[in-house]
Amino acid sequence: MIVTIDGPAGTGKSTVARRLAEQLRFQFLDTGAMYRMIALKALREQIDPGDQSGIGRLARETVMDLTDGGYLMDGVEVGGEIRTAEVTKAASLVAQIPAVRELLVRRQREIASARNIVCEGRDQGTVAFPHAECKFFLTAQPEERARRRLEELAAQGSQVDFEELLREQSDRDQRDQERAVAPLRPAADALLVDTTALDLDQVVRLLREQILVRVQSA
Ligand code: DC
Repeated sequence: MIVTIDGPAGTGKSTVARRLAEQLRFQFLDTGAMYRMIALKALREQIDPGDQSGIGRLARETVMDLTDGGYLMDGVEVGGEIRTAEVTKAASLVAQIPAVRELLVRRQREIASARNIVCEGRDQGTVAFPHAECKFFLTAQPEERARRRLEELAAQGSQVDFEELLREQSDRDQRDQERAVAPLRPAADALLVDTTALDLDQVVRLLREQILVRVQSA
């Protein structure tokens, strides 16, 4: 069984997907981390994130291993370095390259084959797994999403300006929604969940209930 969770950043998507997978004893796939790994490698090798052929080659050469225990890029563990502001920005550029998306979607399908899995990203319900049994699309008000991100960064010891964060978030949303390939949008059969006024536990519970309903009616 495949559960897809898509939506913009700051909706609690990653945490919700991870917790849901734990509770259901499903595997969890963080597809954003795949784009982030390529962005990190591009920055390290000084390849412009907008260089389609350079990034395409780099993506083909990168071996990724994403398990619940940790993320390996070319056999080496990566952690916080894929979450920096610089990598976040580069990842959103790398994600616009059609060849990269095609390659990563292929890998996502390989990882998900013959498994119970919760896949989280932007295009999981629309492109990667159009036949997934359960699809969710999480949303939240932009200010609330930026507030959550600010809190997350503060917990990591980074001080950033709220207005600047909001502006960057809006730029990234626009890029994600307007890109030619796999733009961010809910699948026609996805359940839309507005998380603005909900805490993480409430969202996880809601999704679990919905999965149960779908499984029982299947
Ligand atoms: O979810 P995230 O912030 O880790 O994603 C990093 C970037 O990758 C973000 O700009 C959106 C993009 N992305 C994507 O285009 N498709 C996915 N399935 C997952 C992430």
